[in-house]
Amino acid sequence: MGTLLLEGLRKEYGRAVAVERVDIDVGEGELVSLLGPSGCGKTTTLRMVAGFIEPTAGRVVIAGKDVTATPPYARQTGMVFQSYALFPHMSVADNVGFGLEMRKVGRAERDRRVADALKLVRLDQLADRLPRQLSGGQQQRVALARALVINPAVFLLDEPLSNLDAKLRADVRGEIRALQQRLGLTTLMVTHDQEEALTMSDRLVVMEGGRVRQVGTAEDLYENPADAFVADFVGRCNIIRGTVEGAALRSEGGSLLPCQVEGARKNASVLALRPERITLQPGTDGAGIPARLAAILYLGAQTEYRLDLDGTTLTAIRATPTENDAMRRIKTGDTVKVSWDAAAARLLPA
Ligand SMILES: Nc1ncnc2c1ncn2[C@@H]1O[C@H](COP(=O)(O)OP(=O)(O)OP(=O)(O)O)[C@@H](O)[C@H]1O
Ligand SMILES: [Mg+2]
Repeated sequence: MGTLLLEGLRKEYGRAVAVERVDIDVGEGELVSLLGPSGCGKTTTLRMVAGFIEPTAGRVVIAGKDVTATPPYARQTGMVFQSYALFPHMSVADNVGFGLEMRKVGRAERDRRVADALKLVRLDQLADRLPRQLSGGQQQRVALARALVINPAVFLLDEPLSNLDAKLRADVRGEIRALQQRLGLTTLMVTHDQEEALTMSDRLVVMEGGRVRQVGTAEDLYENPADAFVADFVGRCNIIRGTVEGAALRSEGGSLLPCQVEGARKNASVLALRPERITLQPGTDGAGIPARLAAILYLGAQTEYRLDLDGTTLTAIRATPTENDAMRRIKTGDTVKVSWDAAAARLLPA
């Protein structure tokens, strides 16, 4: 296994810039996720690492060696594609062994390594099946085995779980992470699913418009987002525009919203407030800002409240109230008092 370093990566398609100024390092045995909306350049970045796309500028360094000009098969990268891309007419074992055959690995060693890889993903019993005789989750594991069998220095995953249903996704997510940690695989994974990225990664790279917005652990990004885009993309967040007035933000609707002004960046002009940090009180007495309840969404363990605060929409998420809780009796259209700790409301650049 080795480290992975991307330096100043850039990709232009004609006049359009798909990726620019991407600097990322993945340590030995670390799993780093590229997270961002559709079209932000995640797949393009991953394919430049694998060697399927030639960068316009920048370098790819694997285990200390510059591989920018090295063809894909000689890069020691194992890639799992979003579509799995299994050969439909070949058995599970032959699919997994294909990369070794291409690399002219002899029959006996090939058989042994294929058997090992299939055991790793718990498919050793199904080696003779064809891909269409497997479930989605099993096909996904064949794709993993096929990437692992070549003993890659760097493991690349492009939306590996996107074809699976919600329940299976959660299971396979855990399996991939356990395997990655057990084998100490240096991994770069692409996803647009924030839950996937938050639960599986050592660190995350948030991308937007071809650029890196922020790099950090899940906690870094959630607690200290660099800007409103990251706050909104990682976890849920109320993003409120306005102008700073003393220790508060005057919303466009005219409400004065307490926030953490100290330490905020000069160009900060939006308030970011996590839904779980908002406290609700039934009735109109006491401290807090009055707001009208526009909707109540029951989510089971939690309840989501959509609030209208002088034209500004706020979302609060609280534990679902129990039998004797006064919050149990409030309904849509009621007025409630909302409040939060000023330190929980961060001023960020838009
Ligand atoms: N071969 C190409 N020619 C021209 N433009 C391209 C090409 N491939 C990708 N692009 C553009 O580059 C940008 C980044 O594409 P990319 O596939 O990397 O996005 P992504 O982040 O993987 O998105 P998704 O989540 O939808 O898979 C997009 O605007 C896309 O339209
Ligand atoms: Mg993609």
